[in-house]
Amino acid sequence: MAIKFEVIKEEKYTGARLGKLYTPHGVIDTPIFMPVGTQATVKTMTPEELKEIETQIILSNTYHLYLRPGHELVKEAGGLHQFMHWDGPILTDSGGFQVFSLSSLRNITEEGVTFRSHLNGSKHFIGPEKAIEIQNALGSDIIMAFDECTPYPSNYEYVKNSLERTIRWAKRCKKAHKKESEQALFGIIQGGTYQDLREQSVKEMLELDFPGYSIGGLSVGEPKDLMYQVLDYTIPLMPKNKPRYLMGVGSPDALIEGVIRGIDMFDCVLQTRIARNGTAMTSMGKIVIKNATYERDFSPLDPNCHCYTCQNYSRAYLRHLFKTKEILGLRLTTYHNLYFTLQLMKNIRQAIKEDRLLDFKKEFFLNYGYTQ
Ligand code: GUN
Ligand code: ZN
Repeated sequence: MAIKFEVIKEEKYTGARLGKLYTPHGVIDTPIFMPVGTQATVKTMTPEELKEIETQIILSNTYHLYLRPGHELVKEAGGLHQFMHWDGPILTDSGGFQVFSLSSLRNITEEGVTFRSHLNGSKHFIGPEKAIEIQNALGSDIIMAFDECTPYPSNYEYVKNSLERTIRWAKRCKKAHKKESEQALFGIIQGGTYQDLREQSVKEMLELDFPGYSIGGLSVGEPKDLMYQVLDYTIPLMPKNKPRYLMGVGSPDALIEGVIRGIDMFDCVLQTRIARNGTAMTSMGKIVIKNATYERDFSPLDPNCHCYTCQNYSRAYLRHLFKTKEILGLRLTTYHNLYFTLQLMKNIRQAIKEDRLLDFKKEFFLNYGYTQ
């Protein structure tokens, strides 16, 4: 088995748990947030900087690396770890989301998806076997089954047919996966916002006995409360002794709400994306650094943050970097947002340890400006 998962403690008052996830490239403390490195780089961050802020695992993307530079080339380089000089754990998504959100002229059949590249319009096909072949070549520690992420809203019939095909694809992924001892293959639960379809998806995925399960098809435009409802009825059906990964979700409130419901792993582009348009997450909520209010503000982004950016640079300086379009502004703000989020996860883990996650949530939401 490529991974081993241990639940170390269950919180007294919520569904939260502390765990350890053992991978071929290191041990991960869960619940965990995974910074996103779509193109074999977490945008603007060196692997040394990722280590410095205690990144435990990163996510990368099958779809992008298949198109550019090509998985064969990455394999030739010695695999994704060696290619990008990151020796920690890597999880790759299967392309089952990106192919639907990025490419054009998609044609979905039982076999898989034919699509045109968002880069140059060239024609490609990815099905379950291909998605596994690509991820086997990349050599990531955790790989995802090929799925269809249905948009919100989608009608019942469409979601049902889609999730049933996703199950058949998951079976084919399992069969195609030849490196079970090196890479853990996770199944992805779909079913949109329909309770009976989520139940069907979980039930049939569990029969395939994957070493971990992802929840997909959320944070695709549905109201947050609806996403939490789906988690409320889906997670209790999932095995306790296997990692649960909520895909593409990572705003601070959703991280806390997800953990409370029993999620162990998260990823999101939000932190790095908003950093590059000049938005910083702070303990007192988001701030838009270009705003005129910060012109003469010589305090750090977040006075409660101990990151490199906050220890050495002021809001006024960061505003200046953004106004002048200097690259350092993107780097320093990305560094801070990721540090802030990894620190939040660390604080969440400590709160679980001490059975005070609900108090932690209350205080965090109050300071951040979220309504409860
Ligand atoms: N990322 C966010 N949501 C999804 C999903 O439903 N499927 C996959 N493969 N990746 C995702
Ligand atoms: Zn900081």
